[in-house]
Amino acid sequence: MQEKGDVQVSVLATASHRLTLQGARSGLHGEATVPGDKSVSHRAAILGGIANGTTRIRNFLPATDCHATLEVMRGLGIQVDYTPDEVLVHGRGLRGLSESLRPLDCGGSGTTMRLIAGLLAGQPFYSVLAANAQLSKRPMDRVAVPLRLMGANIMGRSNGRYAPLSIVGGSLHGIQYKMPVASAQVKSAILLAGLFAEGPTEVVEPAPSRDHTELMLRAMGAQVSTDGNVVSIVPTSTLDSLDVRVPGDISSAAFLMAAAAIVPGSRVVIPGVGLNAGRVGILNVLLRMGAPLRLHNERLDNGEPVADIEIEYGQLRGTFISPEEVPGLIDELPILAVIATQVEGVTEVRGAAELRVKETDRIATTVTELRRMGAKIEALPDGFIVEGPVRLHGADVSSHGDHRLAMSLAVAALAADGETTVDDTACIDDSFPGFEQALEAIGVTL
Ligand code: S3P
Repeated sequence: MQEKGDVQVSVLATASHRLTLQGARSGLHGEATVPGDKSVSHRAAILGGIANGTTRIRNFLPATDCHATLEVMRGLGIQVDYTPDEVLVHGRGLRGLSESLRPLDCGGSGTTMRLIAGLLAGQPFYSVLAANAQLSKRPMDRVAVPLRLMGANIMGRSNGRYAPLSIVGGSLHGIQYKMPVASAQVKSAILLAGLFAEGPTEVVEPAPSRDHTELMLRAMGAQVSTDGNVVSIVPTSTLDSLDVRVPGDISSAAFLMAAAAIVPGSRVVIPGVGLNAGRVGILNVLLRMGAPLRLHNERLDNGEPVADIEIEYGQLRGTFISPEEVPGLIDELPILAVIATQVEGVTEVRGAAELRVKETDRIATTVTELRRMGAKIEALPDGFIVEGPVRLHGADVSSHGDHRLAMSLAVAALAADGETTVDDTACIDDSFPGFEQALEAIGVTL
């Protein structure tokens, strides 16, 4: 009976999707692993489906977003064998996808929708890409415009600006495309379409973004070249299957790094984190702020740089984040705002208007929620300014359904006096299942 009661209590606790945290009374210590990289997991699932033979993926991120990609690939006729230890994607070659009977549900995953749009642009059949309420508000014209230029027929709400999208692809021709915003998702969508096009495709980015797609395509035998901000691809007839070991996600590690950096007396180790050149902005910024941060055991795994990160509490100072740096830490800007509340001086982020079209308007939501905890933070049209250090106080705050904001607020709570309740935290599973256990591993009591 008692046992049954306990189960009910825990079900209720989960259903409320709240996280209650106290300010840390002593330093955080220990080693915490982070789950597999979200960007690499999506790409391995998609590219595995159009390779010849079976792609084996270890450390696949078991997050809602990546499951959406697996389901979409299944909808396109790809057999996927999923176990927590490994995912087997039985590729059917570049021309082996089949028309889905039903709409392909991307859930809330922008990466799924944009990359799959590129893939479907190359398929001579009709597809519908569906999205949840949050993703339906995010711009899709950034992929629809270049894919139409390549010859795909794409429709969507507001002339293709918003999901659901319908796509009839095939008969593409290569283009030279100057991207208006630095976006790895848009670049990847165009490169995927370029695989199926006639003639080469060239993408010019305003600033280099993460290059997981290029690295993986090269490892599969495709001809992809990079020259500064210009990436080109020539169409191919086959892709080799891969054995992928997904590195730990630096964007998830950032929350643990931040906790260590701002809670006095902390020292935390995060093993096996992917350090793709387009993702390491947060490390550079933390070092510039004065964080005692070291890399150990640096190595290459499937062409992706990987290392163990060791970080300690430090007396940090504010810094300026320039527009050119933004693509390299775009997902880390909410947690950087939290760090900035605890450091000496002003931290200013510019050139980050992209934050306004993420899972939430991350400039508005981050500013609103951190102010509830006493932060001195001002919104700018394209970023924010934070003045530190400020003693934060516990408060009732909300994630607005945004996983990165939920985790940022949880970390802010560790540096605050008293108790903080973060509401609407189920979304954490969009990118970091096991976040609470990772906090516990470094000594946080939940
Ligand atoms: C991603 C690219 C980034 C990032 C997102 C994942 C990817 O988006 O914010 O979380 O896997 O390519 P943009 O390409 O839109 O900047």
